[in-house]
Amino acid sequence: MSTAPVPASKLPDLGTTIFTQMSALAQQHQAINLSQGFPDFDGPEYLKQRLSWHVSQGANQYAPMTGAAPLREAIAEKTAQLYGWQPDANSEVTVTAGATEALFAAISALVRSGDEVICFDPSYDSYAPAVQLSGGVLKRIALQPPAFKVDWQRFAEQLSPRTRLVILNTPQNPSATAWSAEDMQQLWAAIADREIYILSDEVYEHICFAKGGHASV
Ligand SMILES: Cc1ncc(COP(=O)(O)O)c(C=O)c1O
Repeated sequence: MSTAPVPASKLPDLGTTIFTQMSALAQQHQAINLSQGFPDFDGPEYLKQRLSWHVSQGANQYAPMTGAAPLREAIAEKTAQLYGWQPDANSEVTVTAGATEALFAAISALVRSGDEVICFDPSYDSYAPAVQLSGGVLKRIALQPPAFKVDWQRFAEQLSPRTRLVILNTPQNPSATAWSAEDMQQLWAAIADREIYILSDEVYEHICFAKGGHASV
């Protein structure tokens, strides 16, 4: 039997994620799994063909750290077409392996020990551990059903000289509500004269059924 000491966890209260728990339950009961993004259709044929073509041509080496240039350029172009703002593909676009890596990278880059971070609950469960690992203090604002709208008075009360970052998610998982352009204006009005960053998690930008469409930060 090994007697090696087990190093103490840096996140002792984390537990098993709700995604793992619910997906295991769905499998156990043969239920439709609505808890995690398991589409019941395959990816586009064209995309699969292109992927296998590039692999067969030897595109199996490290990409540049920020991502392959044509991909960054395509992302910048897509952003310009959708939102009317063209980011610089070299200095303002970074490709990551999924959103969770991007969230972790952004939070670790911005949040310093003792910084306060505001998020809106219920929230995607990778925000809190990333803030904790960065030494930040998470201030949670509970959104109330059925509308899950931000109470801007409460938001203003949560701001402090230590507020460094606000994390928002629209369209939101799990409430399925979306921020409007007015919400974005309210956020801007609340923080405009302060040095606060916004981390806007918009992974569901193309799955938005809100009347006004998706309002991007
Ligand atoms: C709001 C939100 N952000 C980010 C993610 C993670 O995205 P990815 O699978 O690309 O890491 C999810 C996945 O459930 C999510 O719901």
